Amino acid sequence: MLKTVSALRFWYHLAWLLVFGMAHVALAAEIASPDGRLVVDVTTDNDGAATYSVRFRNEPVVTPSRLGLRFLEHHALEGGLRVASTKRAQQDATWEQPWGERRRVRNHYNELTVRFESTEGPQRFFDLRVRVYDDGLGFRYEVPHQDHYGEVGIAGELTEFCVPEDATAFWTPARAWNRYEHLTRTTPVAAVELANTPMTMRLASGTHLSLHEAALRDYSGYVIDQRRPGVLRTNLTPASDGVPVRTTAPFVTPWRTIQVAERATGLLDSSLILNLNEPNVLGDVSWVEPGKYIGIWWAMHIGTKTWGSGENHGATTAAAKRHIDFAAEHGFDGVLVEGWNTGWDGSWFHNGAVFDFTESYPDFDLEAVGRYALDRGVRLIGHHETSGHVTNYESQMADAFDLYESVGVRQVKTGYVADGGDLRWVDADGVTHHEWHDGQFAVRHFERVLVEAAKRRISINTHEPVKDTGLRRTYPNWLSREGARGQEFNAGWSAEPNPPEHDVMLAYTRMLGGPMDFTPGIFDLAPRPENPDYRIPSTLMRQLALYVVLYSPVQMAADLPENYAKHPDAFQFIRDVPVDWEKSVALAGEVGDYVVYARQERGAEDWYLGAITDEQERDLEIALTFLADDTVYEATVYRDGDEAHWQDNPYDYVIEQLTVAREDSLELGLAAGGGAAVRFRSTDEAEQE
Ligand code: NOJ
Repeated sequence: MLKTVSALRFWYHLAWLLVFGMAHVALAAEIASPDGRLVVDVTTDNDGAATYSVRFRNEPVVTPSRLGLRFLEHHALEGGLRVASTKRAQQDATWEQPWGERRRVRNHYNELTVRFESTEGPQRFFDLRVRVYDDGLGFRYEVPHQDHYGEVGIAGELTEFCVPEDATAFWTPARAWNRYEHLTRTTPVAAVELANTPMTMRLASGTHLSLHEAALRDYSGYVIDQRRPGVLRTNLTPASDGVPVRTTAPFVTPWRTIQVAERATGLLDSSLILNLNEPNVLGDVSWVEPGKYIGIWWAMHIGTKTWGSGENHGATTAAAKRHIDFAAEHGFDGVLVEGWNTGWDGSWFHNGAVFDFTESYPDFDLEAVGRYALDRGVRLIGHHETSGHVTNYESQMADAFDLYESVGVRQVKTGYVADGGDLRWVDADGVTHHEWHDGQFAVRHFERVLVEAAKRRISINTHEPVKDTGLRRTYPNWLSREGARGQEFNAGWSAEPNPPEHDVMLAYTRMLGGPMDFTPGIFDLAPRPENPDYRIPSTLMRQLALYVVLYSPVQMAADLPENYAKHPDAFQFIRDVPVDWEKSVALAGEVGDYVVYARQERGAEDWYLGAITDEQERDLEIALTFLADDTVYEATVYRDGDEAHWQDNPYDYVIEQLTVAREDSLELGLAAGGGAAVRFRSTDEAEQE
């Protein structure tokens, strides 16, 4: 009898421990990167909120941070949760980009999927899928169909990134009228207000992080919102009705990404964002053509020509033919013509409804120009400035692309000049609605444009776009975009041109998202005759270096053709530099201070190097270990002269030939606001020519 009582007591205690103990000891799961240095822990906190934290080389880089989603009309996935199960997977595969900064991309990660389910309220659940790479991590919410979620409005996302308070942040203000076109601020992380992503941070230890997102599709973008010091939260951009996202379960969110590197340049070699996107959905994309181009463009920005009609109209048939001749002579692939279609007269900035995308101004013969270009082995590059009037554009888009296709156009630059929050669409009742460039409405629109363009074998280069989250992998016809202050801010129409630091900053922030159509290559560095003191903050050599530093598969030689004639020796670099690469390596640099890149031409032996600095002059010694073994190279070095300075001596430069090999180092002196560009030709190849 005694025995039976104590056995009962034993079983009673065990059952009590299992039931009560399990409920109060949160299950945790850990996942590490393939090299073991980056570790993510996922669990729940005392309130049953899903949380994660990240360690890099044992250093806490993201301390326990909450996750969750709030809905308009449904119970939130916010607290009262428990870890129900975990699943693991891994992948190590290499895929090839049709074009890019590197041909082969290794997709190597360990994956953990954690199912969270409710312990109170109506039964509900979701998965958190986490992928950990050597260069960072991504996670996303996956919400299966279930009783409580069919069609949902997502009212907010509660993803936090709790970062050490000693971090320095490099950021641009978000949800402001000028979209992503701001100078980057360098502040303690505590001073970050609403910020765009990619947002880069340097921790006191020297570790670098960058927060962004990948595969932003049918969802709204997020900006960083500092709720409490060091607690950065995703703030989803609302639609005009105030609701950030409307969707139907099952749905997945974009990946929330954290790139992590020991030093600043480590961020630049990351392929995380691309790897987290879906593969190409377009099939054969041999028609997508990277290339260099010139255009009827800068003249409008410096005010010597106009987009609109009149005696200074830039886009005339004769001017286009002259540009095509120049392009053919110097090996450019395309000529962009802006201002050829009607709608530019008057206040186009504020009234996109005026644009007609198939009607030319009388002094521009689209058909003749298209033919003239094709006959000379050049293609006309199309232009659709929408001024943010999406309905006007979409109602003409099919015809507009048909027309361009019929005259041999393979690439269209689109534009959405409108203040942030002022993209417009008109509903069936004629009511106009106003949206952000990174809201769900815009995200859907940009994807529709890609699909429509692809049907005509046309690629897109978007200005005033949504931020780049790597969709070029899925849609290889999304060649490039702007999405930051480009060269045009140096044309004299902006009160404040880009200071030398800006282009360097871009490499460590904006460029982590993907290619940018920055439009380098201005040779007349004082382009405002009416204001001779006005200067582009750059030496001439820096303009060359930008072709290597700021990656884009379409690169413009942005200046007026006649200005290249003044420096034919320097212009040779622009003629030679490719836009499509076999490999890319960030060799040296610090955020906002300087950056050095080497890239190998796709399908060739040649390497190119670009280096730029901020307003500090610098002497760099670059080890040439990226070059092939047992190969001798002829290096053509384009560098600032000893007296060069962006402000008062930007044309002091030296072009010299050196013979170098992998064992050598190259000494490069960069002037204040300066840069250097180098072409390395393997002598085997040079001899064959
Ligand atoms: C702004 C774009 O960035 C620029 O390149 C273009 O020339 C103007 N909009 C007009 O479309």
